[in-house]
This record gives sequence, structure tokens and C-alpha cells, in this order.
Amino acid sequence: MLTNASQALLRNSHLVNGHSVLVLNYEGDTLPKALLDSASSVSALALDFHHHLIMQPHAATNLQLYFGHKLPNQERFDSVIVYFPKAKALAPYLFNLAAKHLKLQGQLIVVGENKGGIKSLPKLLPDYFDKAFKADNARHCIVFTSELDREAPEIKIQDWCSKYPVQTPQGEMTICNMVGVFSEKKLDEGTKLLLDNLPNMRGTVLDFGCGAGVIAAALLTAQPKLKLECVDINAMALLSCELTLQANGLEAEVFASDGMAQTTKSYDGIISNPPFHDGLNRLTTIAIDFVKASAENLAKGGMFHIVANRHLPYSDCIAEKFGSVNVGAENSRYKIYSNLKR
Ligand SMILES: C[S@@+](CC[C@H](N)C(=O)[O-])C[C@H]1O[C@@H](n2cnc3c(N)ncnc32)[C@H](O)[C@@H]1O
Repeated sequence: MLTNASQALLRNSHLVNGHSVLVLNYEGDTLPKALLDSASSVSALALDFHHHLIMQPHAATNLQLYFGHKLPNQERFDSVIVYFPKAKALAPYLFNLAAKHLKLQGQLIVVGENKGGIKSLPKLLPDYFDKAFKADNARHCIVFTSELDREAPEIKIQDWCSKYPVQTPQGEMTICNMVGVFSEKKLDEGTKLLLDNLPNMRGTVLDFGCGAGVIAAALLTAQPKLKLECVDINAMALLSCELTLQANGLEAEVFASDGMAQTTKSYDGIISNPPFHDGLNRLTTIAIDFVKASAENLAKGGMFHIVANRHLPYSDCIAEKFGSVNVGAENSRYKIYSNLKR
């Protein structure tokens, strides 16, 4: 099943007839493969690891698939398709990346949901692109096209990263936050409560949904002997976490995981401010899967320590998987759940 944006693109696949095509920030479907009916070859970069995993089985010589914040090469394409991102702050980065992979006078195609901010595209497009042209309006989405008029500036990571100091009980830390990543300008309130109630942990610990690496940096600063693994589904978050660790002179293993699927160890601790932005149904599934997988992946006596919005449905699931629910701290908005694996 294709998303609305992908269906809108497919209606316009004549735009890429015979072209070499790069697709940036594609969604959770197989549109890059479907484009091969028109395009001569397709490369696709997912910034969401779940989306990458959906496409991965279809990789072929004429269908190159990547996950990350950029391509591992400088290849130039006849057309670049950009899915307008949910995090609007990421859009200018994607346009710059698209331009660096377009031949001069190459075609830019941008697709997005009406309610997702795509209408403002003509104002957002950098001036190295020609004026945006509305090519189609379908499936609650708009498809815009444009052309690369002149060479775009080189991408320097520091230009897309906001650095800010954070005072924590563990000391002052520098947070490096790439565009579009959670807690872009300041420490999240839930994370703050977690840092104010950081437990003593031991052995190998997993920071699930590490984002910009705030929890990781605080934990390693307070407890430098820990072996820390940091996972996230979002390529920009993983890069942010690496930059934050570097900026604070700390080390951890940082890698992509969709939920806990790519983690392999039996952990002595799992710490997290888990995701809460998706629609409620999906969120409940993520929360339940996360608690379940945590209970399975913790060693006996291992610590499960998370912060969550107090209205989220964690209690029942924690009680079922850990045998009891221990609320270590709380305020009017958040609760710290802290349980040991029996
Ligand atoms: C609430 S944020 C917390 C970020 C960071 N730990 C902090 O406290 O600032 C949740 C993080 O989970 C990540 N995430 C969302 N869904 C995920 C999934 N299925 N698997 C792994 N990480 C996920 C998001 O990209 C986001 O960085």
C-alpha cells in the first residue's frame, strides 16, 4: 500500500521517464521500486530506519538503497524527489542535499501532504532553484517541480546543527542537535525529570530513542565506567547523538534500530524517554512493544528506567512484564517508571 504522497508521485511518474532518479526521505512503502517502471535507475535515501528496512529486500543493481543523513557518494542525477518532511526544519537541509546530487538544470520534484506544510514550498525553496511549479494536486497532496539553476553551497554539518549548553545535575553539557531532531532548542521537560532522577546503573546499558544524546551524555558523565549503546530510528538523531558525545569527550556505540529489533545484547539497564509523537494507536503499540522487548532483553536484576507522559498507557504493561509498577518520581506531567527485572 502506497502512502498518499507516493500515490500522488506515481500519478506523475512520466516526469521521470528514462531518468536517473534519487529519492530523498521516502516514506514507509515501496515507491522507489515502483518508479523503476518509468525511471532508468533509482537510488533512495531513507532518514527513517523503518522505511529503509521496508525497501531493503528490493535492492538491485538499478535500485540502490541507503540509510543515513547523506549519500556515501557524490553521484548526480537527472531528477531528485524530496518527500517534504514532517519536521519542517529539515526541509532546507533536504533541498540543499537534493541540489548537491542534481545535474545542473536537473529536475527537483517535491511532494507533501497539504496539511504538512507543502503549500509554503515556493517560499522555502532556496534561490539556486528556479521558481516552483505546481504540477499536480491529488490524494490530499501537492506535487511541485523546479529546476536546479546554479550550484548550491557545500553541506557543512555545523551549519545544520544547533549547539546549546544544558545545566544538569551531572554538570554542564553541550548538546548538538541536527535540524528536525527532538529537543532542537532546549532540554525536554520529561528528559529533565529523568536527569534529575538518574539512577546508579552498571554494566551494559541501552539508551533507547537516544535523540540528540542528552541522556547518554549525562549518564556517561556521571558514570563513566558504563558501556553504553544508543539507538534511534532517525538518521539525524543518530548523527546528533554522535556529535553530542564527541563534544563532551564521551564514547558510546551508536546505531540504528527500529524499536529494539537491531539490539542484540542482554542489557544490565535500559534507560529512555521513549517516543510519543505518533498517532495514539501506533504509540500504544510502540510503548507496549518497547516494554515487552525491554523485559525480554534485560538480564536478571537489570534496571528498566524510563520517563513518560503520565497519561500514556505504560502502567498496565509494565505491571504485566515486570510484575509490579514502581514510580520513582513524578510531577504534574511526567512519571519516572523504574523497575528491576526479576
Ligand atoms: C521523546 S524522544 C527522546 C530523545 C532523547 N532521548 C531525549 O531525551 O531528548 C524519542 C526518540 O525516539 C526515537 N524513535 C521513535 N520511534 C522509534 C523506534 N521505533 N525505534 C527507535 N527509536 C525511535 C525518535 O527518533 C526520538 O529521537
